[in-house]
Amino acid sequence: DYQKHIRNFSIVAHIDHGKSTIADRILELTDTVSERQLKNQMLDDMPLERERGITIKMNSVEIKYQAQDGADYIFHLIDTPGHVDFSYEVSRSLAACEGALLVVDASQGVQAQTLANTYLAIDNDLEILPVINKIDLPSADPDQAKEEITEMLGIDASNAAEVSGKTGQGIAELLEDIVQNIPAPTGDLTAPLKALIFDSKYDDYRGVVLSVRIEEGTVKPGDQIKIMNTGKEYEVTEVGVSSPHPVKKDILIAGDVGYLTANIKSVRETRVGDTITAAENPTAEPLPGYRQIPPMVYSGMYPVDNAKYDDLKEALQKFQLNDAALEFEPETSTALGFGFRCGFLGLLHMDVVQERLEQEYDMDLIMTAPSVDYHAMMNDGSTKVIDNPADLPTAGEYQEVQEPYVKAEVMVPNDFVGPVMELCQRKRGDFVTMDYLDKYRVNVIYNMPLAEIIYDFFDDLKSSTKGYASLDYEITGYRATDLVKIDILLNKQVIDALSFIAHRDESQKRARQMTSMLKKLIPRQNFEVDIQGAIGAKIISRATVKPYRKDVTWKIHTGDPDRRAKLLEKQKRGKKRMKSVGRVEVPQDAFMAVLRMN
Ligand code: GTP
Repeated sequence: DYQKHIRNFSIVAHIDHGKSTIADRILELTDTVSERQLKNQMLDDMPLERERGITIKMNSVEIKYQAQDGADYIFHLIDTPGHVDFSYEVSRSLAACEGALLVVDASQGVQAQTLANTYLAIDNDLEILPVINKIDLPSADPDQAKEEITEMLGIDASNAAEVSGKTGQGIAELLEDIVQNIPAPTGDLTAPLKALIFDSKYDDYRGVVLSVRIEEGTVKPGDQIKIMNTGKEYEVTEVGVSSPHPVKKDILIAGDVGYLTANIKSVRETRVGDTITAAENPTAEPLPGYRQIPPMVYSGMYPVDNAKYDDLKEALQKFQLNDAALEFEPETSTALGFGFRCGFLGLLHMDVVQERLEQEYDMDLIMTAPSVDYHAMMNDGSTKVIDNPADLPTAGEYQEVQEPYVKAEVMVPNDFVGPVMELCQRKRGDFVTMDYLDKYRVNVIYNMPLAEIIYDFFDDLKSSTKGYASLDYEITGYRATDLVKIDILLNKQVIDALSFIAHRDESQKRARQMTSMLKKLIPRQNFEVDIQGAIGAKIISRATVKPYRKDVTWKIHTGDPDRRAKLLEKQKRGKKRMKSVGRVEVPQDAFMAVLRMN
């Protein structure tokens, strides 16, 4: 009977359509958190998430709701991350649910991520409940949004809830909708344990806390469990639900969504998507859909102060306890010394990791330009994986170089098809197809090199479509293209950390852009700095940073004390992010210059 009163659901939406805001209103209306406790966007509890207004790590919350029929219901609301970098996590958290609220902004209608997330929800056999949000906006057009959902997604939206996460209008009706339309979980309570891990977090005191959906059987403290993918066994130490703060329970049963701890030391021992079963009496088959997610983007990470190498290693190891997607291995750079080559899900993930290492572990870091991983087909028939541009062998040692390709889907209003195609073409895209979704909107599909997407593609796309276009992409495979390595020399010395790979047709232009960018970014020193771009031994671009004439330090000893303090502070901050390369002081920005080229 308890099972019949459970409702497990997620909220999916295009970014900024109001997912977190609606979750907040639901928590508030059901008194799950008191008004005093309710900070805006309760579910986004990581400081960085708040700062950036994005949801990175998902969370689940147990909500008690007394329905209009008088019965008590238990809702498990599972929050999902909203960024393309984390789409696998979205898919696993959806697998923990029976239903999904599909939130669509009444002034924006269906967007690319609305489509992508709906497909994920359909893949997971979820009951989809359309919700039209932001009806308080003057530009809201709920009927248009409903029509788009019906036409473009094939989901009947004629009875969709119309709500405002801002004012709370329509949220009470939405709660009834959830009870009526999202199916209760089923699952044999007496079967052997079968549970899905859909999230994991590291906690200093309890070790890894797994978010789980129990599909079959039950689990309680003292049970011996097995992770099916690794075969490793653990004893359960605690089970419970988050409400949203952890509340211990005696047992979790089929249909429940909650947490479990078992003295697991690192999130890498248990990947999201894995199945947990009973050690003694295991279930026959793991749950479907498990995938190990490879990094898409690689970058070198070096401590500004070489003496901090061991500290950085320790910080990365600790960080990895809580981030299964982060990969790293030691790397040496002639220019930067000892550091690590790190693999990330995308640029956002990279940014987040860097920022958190700096804030939480007090590291000063130099990151090198992000790169995808290339495959060099060597003359001896072997394949060399190149995740650092500096490692690309010289021409003649390999037959060809292959780069990862993605299928990119851009959804855009009709008027912008031209600019989008022009942009995709410029980014070495191959046109695949174009679908007119309705009389307003087109879905444009291109095969493109991943390398062109990870840099500034999304920004360019936004600016060439006034922000109307949305983007979704997935890796489809590797293709041979005509790539060359461009080396950068400072005062005749190759700086390996500045090497980058470009298409031959663009190499001249890129090399020139890079040298002139570096000229702007490298500060004057007390000698001349000669900057050169080269392919092999051939110099293809150059620029010079003139030495400074004036001794700037005297400034510090004059003027009012305030100004002096500020100058010192500024200098200190600047220094932190400078790296001596040979005799030349190179700022962090310079290593990222490749990101700023068009
Ligand atoms: P991510 O968590 O980043 O995926 O975004 P989200 O879908 O959770 O959107 P979020 O709840 O952060 O809302 C995005 C913006 O829309 C915020 O500035 C909200 O204040 C605003 N917003 C949300 N709901 C409403 C609404 O009903 N009306 C109005 N006017 N603004 C809203």
